[in-house]
Amino acid sequence: MLEDIVRFLKKSDSYLSGEEISQSLSISRAAIWKYMQELRRLGYEIAAVPHLGYQLTASPDRLFPWEVQFDLGTKVLGQKIVYEDSVPSTMDVAFKLGGQKAPEGTVVCAESQTKGRGRMGRGWVSPKGKGIYFSLILRPKLPPNEAAKLTLLCAVAVAEAVARVSGIEARIKWPNDLLVGKKKLAGILTELHAETDRVKFVVVGVGLNVNTPESQLPTDATSLRLEAGRVFSRVQVLQEVLRELEHWYLRFGREGFPPVLERWKELSLTLGRRVRVADPAGFVEGEAKDIDEDGGLLIRQDTGVIVKRMAGDVVWAH
Ligand code: BTN
Repeated sequence: MLEDIVRFLKKSDSYLSGEEISQSLSISRAAIWKYMQELRRLGYEIAAVPHLGYQLTASPDRLFPWEVQFDLGTKVLGQKIVYEDSVPSTMDVAFKLGGQKAPEGTVVCAESQTKGRGRMGRGWVSPKGKGIYFSLILRPKLPPNEAAKLTLLCAVAVAEAVARVSGIEARIKWPNDLLVGKKKLAGILTELHAETDRVKFVVVGVGLNVNTPESQLPTDATSLRLEAGRVFSRVQVLQEVLRELEHWYLRFGREGFPPVLERWKELSLTLGRRVRVADPAGFVEGEAKDIDEDGGLLIRQDTGVIVKRMAGDVVWAH
C-alpha cells in the first residue's frame, strides 16, 4: 500500500485530496494520514494543506524497490527487487534466492554492506547510501565454460550506463574493472552455480561508487561525484545500469557474443598494452593481444608463445 501511495503522489504534479486518494486506493482517511507519517519517516517530504490535500515535494535517494521500478521500463531485470538496509554481502542473499528459484532478473540491493566482496579475495568498501551495491540473478542457457562472456557483457553495460548518466567515459581493465584514468570507479563480480554441463544461475554483483567522498574510498578508487563534481541520484544511476544490462543481455541472447566483444574492445584499456597478469598459479607477462570468443585474454609472451587466461588480475607492466 505504501508503494501505491508513493506512485499515486509521484504521478500528480499538484495537490491530491485525501478524498481522491481514499477512493482510488480504497482506504480510510485515517489510514492515509498514517501512511503519510510513515513516508515522512522514510525521508519523503510531503506537503499537507487543509482543503487541498497532499503533495510530494521531495523523495529520498534511497534504493527502495518502488523508487527504482518507477518508470524503469525493463521487461526482465528489476521486476523483483529485494531491498535491504544493511547486509554482509548482497551476493550471499542473491545466491540463496537463486537456489530458491527466484526469477531471472531478481535484484538484491543494499544501502550498505558490512562484508562486501571483491574479486580474488578482496573486499568492497560499501559506505551507507553513497554507492550502489547490488547483485542480479540471471539464468542464461549457457555451458559453465562460457560464463566469462557474461562478465565482459556486464562491464560493457555498466560503462555505457555511466556514460549516459554522467558523460564520464569509463574504460574497462580486463576482465571487468571500470576505471577513470587509473582509478577504479566500479567493479563486477560474477559467481555461478553450475552443474557439469550447464549453468543453473549466475549472480552478477556490481559495486559502483556514486556519491562516495574521497575520505570513504580506497586510495586507488574514484566516484562519479569526484569525477563530475556533482551529486547524482543513485536511483537514476541504478535504473540506467539495469536498463543497459537488460539491453546487452537480451542482445546477447539474440545475436550471441560478437556485438558484446566488439564494444568491449572499443572500451578496453588492456588490449595492445604490455601487461602482467596475476592468477593463483603465478604471473604471465607479455602483450595483451586479444580477447577470444570465450572472453579469455590472449597474451603474447616475449618467447612468442601465446597463452590464454580466463581469470586473474592485470597488473600493468608498462
Ligand atoms: C571487484 O572489483 O573486485 C568486484 C567488486 C564487486 C562488488 C559488488 S558490491 C555488490 C556485490 N556484493 C558484494 O559483496 N560484492 C558485489
